[in-house]
Amino acid sequence: MQNKRISIVTGAGRGIGAGIATRLAMRGDSVICVDIDVQAAEAIAAECGERSIGIGLDVSDSAAVNTFVADLIDRYSQIDVLVNNAGINRDAMLHKMTDEAWESVIAVDLTGVFNLCRAVGAQMRTASYGRIVNVASASWMGNIGQTNYAAAKAGVVGLTRSIAKELAFKQVTANAVCPGFILTEMTKAMPPQLFDVQLAKIPLGRPGEPSDVAKVIDFLTSDDAAYVTGEVINVGGGYKL
Ligand SMILES: NC(=O)c1ccc[n+]([C@@H]2O[C@H](COP(=O)([O-])OP(=O)(O)OC[C@H]3O[C@@H](n4cnc5c(N)ncnc54)[C@H](O)[C@@H]3O)[C@@H](O)[C@H]2O)c1
Repeated sequence: MQNKRISIVTGAGRGIGAGIATRLAMRGDSVICVDIDVQAAEAIAAECGERSIGIGLDVSDSAAVNTFVADLIDRYSQIDVLVNNAGINRDAMLHKMTDEAWESVIAVDLTGVFNLCRAVGAQMRTASYGRIVNVASASWMGNIGQTNYAAAKAGVVGLTRSIAKELAFKQVTANAVCPGFILTEMTKAMPPQLFDVQLAKIPLGRPGEPSDVAKVIDFLTSDDAAYVTGEVINVGGGYKL
């Protein structure tokens, strides 16, 4: 299996997803870089090398996800690794949370993960092999201003643990990774005072880099992690300790 993997990474166009895609490509995977921003997906695929491709896809569109996965299976016959990383946030206090902010975050961060897991999980079940990693967040435990995001990410944890139980007998593993405070466009957009508050919560004394998350996902999607499933792994420098 080593060095012949077909691996899907969603939200690969930038940030943590770009870090994961390039890391998996470094070990020899053919990486299918998926992003709603097709140009960003193609640019990262080019960095990954000639066996990787960039695809424009909205993970919340279930019909489009099903077509995308069917096309991939036609082309490669097997998908070995699925990393659901695409995510958005629309933070607001509960009393100011709009329907749009609630629905869009649930659609991308939770339903998007379900859409990919269902389509790819069916093939992994048939193949009796697979590695699924879903990127949740330390916020799944609850966070001020993030009722929508925390609900979606807690949903991802429950979904992942259920998949782990359901597909273990087929040697398919499923784990959730919870980044703490990682330097990406998502966090750079924060007001400086909020940024400093987050930084103060990290015992290791620095924000994370996308590569800190990518290294853990590299392990979880390797053959060495064959006996690790249903886990929820924090990657946050001690954030939330
Ligand atoms: N940065 C952090 O500190 C942090 C902390 C905890 C969890 N996370 C999670 O890690 C993941 C990546 O975060 P990031 O900071 O790199 O974010 P980011 O905003 O920098 O990148 C997210 C990527 O997902 C893509 N995307 C958005 N909606 C999509 C859709 N509907 N379909 C396909 N692609 C879509 C975007 O175009 C973008 O390229 C997210 O799930 C996020 O919730 C991030």
